[in-house]
Amino acid sequence: MIVTIDGVAASGKSSVSSGVARALGVPYVSSGLLYRAATLLAHEAGLAPHDPALLPHLEAQPLRFEPLAGGNRLWLGERELTADVQSAAVDAGVSAVAARPELRAWVDRRLRALTPPFVAEGRDMGTAVFPQAQAKFYLTASARVRAQRRAAERPEAVDEIEAALLRRDEHDRAQSVPAPEAHVIDTGPLTLQGVIDTILAALPQ
Ligand code: CDP
Repeated sequence: MIVTIDGVAASGKSSVSSGVARALGVPYVSSGLLYRAATLLAHEAGLAPHDPALLPHLEAQPLRFEPLAGGNRLWLGERELTADVQSAAVDAGVSAVAARPELRAWVDRRLRALTPPFVAEGRDMGTAVFPQAQAKFYLTASARVRAQRRAAERPEAVDEIEAALLRRDEHDRAQSVPAPEAHVIDTGPLTLQGVIDTILAALPQ
């Protein structure tokens, strides 16, 4: 079984997906982490997202992606990248990487190579990558609520985070359309456990 959980930036996708995956006893897969890895590796190599050298550069890297239920981890050989990709600089650059079709295809190939069952989390898991998924969800929340949540994870002020989230929503709009059959959940009034329970209750038996 594949469950997809898509949604806008900082809508709680990772924490919700991890909770749902743990309840089901399966891994969760953060597709955003792969976009973030591509962004960090591009920055470190001094390559712009549209540089034709970027895709071969990514393909030559010893990148390892560990999609576990408790949290997803990224490695470049022996170096762990998991924390490095959660920075304001990567936040600011990731949408330009995600707009490149060849880089989306690089991420999608890695995702489609994984063996179900799993919970897949991102923007286009239920539409482009796993249209065959048995259950699809789409998380939303107001920009203010999302910025307040992310302010707990980032050292920036809430107003700056909110402005950056709105910019990213705008840039990510093309790949952020919910599947028509997705259950849309406004996470604003719900606790994390409330969102997880709503999803678990809606899963096919
Ligand atoms: O949690 P947050 O939405 O901030 O970040 P994320 O899920 O790690 O995604 C980071 C970025 O990757 C997004 O802003 C999108 O530009 C891109 N992304 C995408 O285009 N498609 C996906 N399936 C997942 C992420």
